[in-house]
Amino acid sequence: MTSHDTPEAPVLGSLRPRLPSPLLEVADERFARRGLRLLLKRDDLIHPDLVGNKWRKLAPNLRAAEGRTVLTFGGAYSNHLRATASAGRLLGLPTVGVVRGQELADRPLNPSLARCAADGMRLHFVDRSTYRRKGEPDTLAALLASAGAADAYVVPEGGSNSLAVRGCAALGEELAGHGGVGVAAVACGTGGTLAGLAAGLGPGGRALGVPVLRGGFLGAEVRALQDAAFGGPRGDWWLDDRFHFGGYARTTPGLDAFAADFEQRHGLPVERLYVAKLLYGLVVLADEGAFERGTAVAAVVTGSPFPAPAP
Ligand SMILES: Cc1ncc(COP(=O)(O)O)c(C=O)c1O
Repeated sequence: MTSHDTPEAPVLGSLRPRLPSPLLEVADERFARRGLRLLLKRDDLIHPDLVGNKWRKLAPNLRAAEGRTVLTFGGAYSNHLRATASAGRLLGLPTVGVVRGQELADRPLNPSLARCAADGMRLHFVDRSTYRRKGEPDTLAALLASAGAADAYVVPEGGSNSLAVRGCAALGEELAGHGGVGVAAVACGTGGTLAGLAAGLGPGGRALGVPVLRGGFLGAEVRALQDAAFGGPRGDWWLDDRFHFGGYARTTPGLDAFAADFEQRHGLPVERLYVAKLLYGLVVLADEGAFERGTAVAAVVTGSPFPAPAP
């Protein structure tokens, strides 16, 4: 048992997370010609099942669940649902996944949901309008009751609650501890990882968030997450909204080609929904001269592709 584990959740430490995650410098002329260094913060190597920001967000919640059923929410391809299901299997915790889209209940499961089910997650499909209102106490109570999980420990969509944001502060602390990182950049869905990263970086480091959803709402979300987690704003962070490629899970042939080329150049698998958009954004920003010469830019590799590419 590690010092972080409670007697009720003794096995988290036995999952042997690779922490701090490796920070690797790569030679990339698109950065070098602007006098920049590119570092990859390999959170994708923390754990094969609780990959990337999933470990940082879920571990504190799994401790807090103290053995209760964990219920959470996600879309049909949610990385977060898969990670929660894996955690349930590894820790022997029952899990329930509330999935957006009642219509999916009558179709064969896609590979992502099939993995959730294979890991023992009970899937509960709800219509989109109920799903949108899941944050309202009455809707949530009715949802928990109909899912047969009234006493469950509830983790929000994307896993971003205060415990998760504080868990992600460790990412910033690791980067600050390394020294010399001028900008740490992360792809954003709910903004929880950025909220924690910016807080953990402390003075001297700046955090950049690249939203993968359209909408321009994320700044307010990050502020609200920091208020809830830390009692007020933390860190020096900004967003660049130009790299969502049409929205969540949207891509273009150009983005796919960029990601495949990055994989070739640097020998790591590039997750397409988030990480590819982040890396693309960083290359554009470097080219635009957005970073001062001499800056070390750390890109956080928050996930790995699913399904994993054939070896
Ligand atoms: C691979 C990957 N990167 C980044 C994110 C974005 O994290 P957040 O929702 O905390 O902004 C997610 C979503 O959780 C993700 O699955």
